[in-house]
Amino acid sequence: MSDLVTLHEVGPRDGLQNEPNLIATADKVRLINLLGTSGLRHIEVGSFVSPKWVPQMADTAQVLAQIAPNTAQTAVLVPNMKGWDGFIAARQPSTDYQVAVFISASEGFSQSNVGCSIADSVDRLAPVIKAAQSAGVALRGYVSCVTDCPFDGPTAPAAVAHAVAMLRGLAPMPISLGDTIGHGTPHTVAAMLRAVLAHTPAQDLAGHFHDTGGRAIDNISLSLDMGLRAFDTAVGGLGGCPYAPGALGNVATETVLARLHADGIHTGVDADVIAQAAELAKGMRS
Ligand code: HMG
Ligand code: MG
Repeated sequence: MSDLVTLHEVGPRDGLQNEPNLIATADKVRLINLLGTSGLRHIEVGSFVSPKWVPQMADTAQVLAQIAPNTAQTAVLVPNMKGWDGFIAARQPSTDYQVAVFISASEGFSQSNVGCSIADSVDRLAPVIKAAQSAGVALRGYVSCVTDCPFDGPTAPAAVAHAVAMLRGLAPMPISLGDTIGHGTPHTVAAMLRAVLAHTPAQDLAGHFHDTGGRAIDNISLSLDMGLRAFDTAVGGLGGCPYAPGALGNVATETVLARLHADGIHTGVDADVIAQAAELAKGMRS
């Protein structure tokens, strides 16, 4: 039977980036290699951001060099041309990469996360997107704070639709909709999705729910009802965002798998391997 839902594993990036104590590259590599045997088709392994801002991701080039080749697409976050150059220098031959670019739907989080306005962040990403297109590297866009912002309060659904349109105006790319601080409810997520789905097909969207408020599974169920078939999850519920106070873990891969598989929804992911990886991930936490 074909897989209905695709999971994007973001634990090694979104999860580990928030850990205060530096985790050894070898431990990250071990976790990613195990995840690579699970049947996951997308694993986000790191980010080429400023090491002053996110020291935990400073070894992403070494991670790319050391992980075993696997069948999953390997994703990295890139915020600007300096990050793109870092990625190009580190990428390995014959690995299938995806470069993820990220903006916010709220100005407060944009300033906190990347130090500039939403419009300036889009301008900064335009050459990255062009370079990825020229190099034939797959793109993904993130829009953060899709229901609530830790600085500006509730986010207007129209602002999310506008942010999605700005990224997709630069290049066709799938978009992950981030409830960065996990304050979304089925009510606010539905309003946001209605606004986005008016302009963007469901197959080009993913849900990225942090589980701070314990509503991530409800929000995934609602998103499934509204046609989404891709979700970002983090093994062991690792996670948070260093520039979003209150952003706790991403929804755990093992929890989402258990729920989907119990509902007879196929993912192609081996829950036993994910359970082992969750133990490994939890052991890395400070
Ligand atoms: P900046 O400080 O505004 O940029 O950073 P700058 O141009 O002024 O550069 C300052 C210093 O950083 C310079 O070094 C640059 O060379 C260096 P110095 O001269 O002082 O020695 N620099 C870099 N070094 C390495 N790689 C780079 C890079 N760029 C500049 N790419 C920047 C701008 C965006 C880079 C910075 O604000 C940054 O790195 N922010 C961190 C963003 C981040 O990683 N946030 C977490 C991920 S997003 C997230 O978690 C949300 C998501 O999960 C979805 C959701 O949940 O909503 C995706
Ligand atoms: Mg996140």
